[in-house]
Amino acid sequence: MAYNLLKGKKGIIFGALDEKSIAWRTALRCHEEGAQLVLTNAPVALRMGEINKLAEAVNAPVVGADVTSMDDLKKLFEEAMKHFGGKVDFILHSIGMSLNVRKNKHYTEIDYGFNQKTLDISAMSLHRVLRTAWEMDAISDWGSVVALTYIAAQRVFPDYNEMADAKALLEGVARNFGYHYGVKKKVRINTVSQSPTKTTAGSGVKGFDGFISYAEKMSPLGNASADQCADYCVTLFSDLTKMVTMQNLFHDGGFSFTGVTQAVIEQMEK
Ligand SMILES: NC(=O)c1ccc[n+]([C@@H]2O[C@H](COP(=O)([O-])OP(=O)(O)OC[C@H]3O[C@@H](n4cnc5c(N)ncnc54)[C@H](O)[C@@H]3O)[C@@H](O)[C@H]2O)c1
Repeated sequence: MAYNLLKGKKGIIFGALDEKSIAWRTALRCHEEGAQLVLTNAPVALRMGEINKLAEAVNAPVVGADVTSMDDLKKLFEEAMKHFGGKVDFILHSIGMSLNVRKNKHYTEIDYGFNQKTLDISAMSLHRVLRTAWEMDAISDWGSVVALTYIAAQRVFPDYNEMADAKALLEGVARNFGYHYGVKKKVRINTVSQSPTKTTAGSGVKGFDGFISYAEKMSPLGNASADQCADYCVTLFSDLTKMVTMQNLFHDGGFSFTGVTQAVIEQMEK
């Protein structure tokens, strides 16, 4: 059901790779709620061609940008503002990539060159996006920025590897830039900490199937799906959440505050 929550709003969505991507699901929901969109992803992801299907469905242009390139980001905001005929009201940062995970390097043996790249793509990219927007004055007053994160930033999930550190840094950037952008332009910046979700990035984590069913059992409401995450992001982009900023918001069916569940106890007693 649509409520016209984003009628008249204009947003940039980073990170729709295929139809499982949280960004893909969010773009569809934002479109349903009346938003105008610009889609972006790394040039290498665009070459897969999948995103054109989404672009057609939500009637949005696609602009390639590697989030580690300030030039690409500047061009992206220029093109988006040209397309919208004005500033951007909301941004979804839905980007994650770990080179050490990809290369099967254990956390205790990470390659620091890869690690720098991981932190740049997965965390400092939020700073780069915000700084570009700040310098170009590209976000409207009371605009909203959401970045996706995972609870491995607070608690240890060994196979999440260096991405745990990347998420901790990402949440720090959201909080600190959130302060400055709030004071300057009333722009709000939050992270949404999502349940494990079957996507390309998610499935890169070792033992993901065990991980996802453990989280399902440990969450009173069960795991949150990508579509439910999209719904939550819509509320954060809407005018109904104007005073929420600098928060890490758990969207995980209660996992983060649960010590143990009956289902897990029963499993342990088997
Ligand atoms: N899937 C999960 O279990 C889960 C849980 C919590 C949080 N998250 C987070 O949600 C976000 C989206 O991930 P997803 O699960 O939808 O997977 P996904 O693989 O569909 O999305 C990751 C995206 O990052 C993009 N990307 C990688 N390098 C880039 C670069 N240099 N420049 C621009 N874009 C780049 C990829 O092209 C891809 O579109 C990530 O931040 C992820 O960590 C995922």
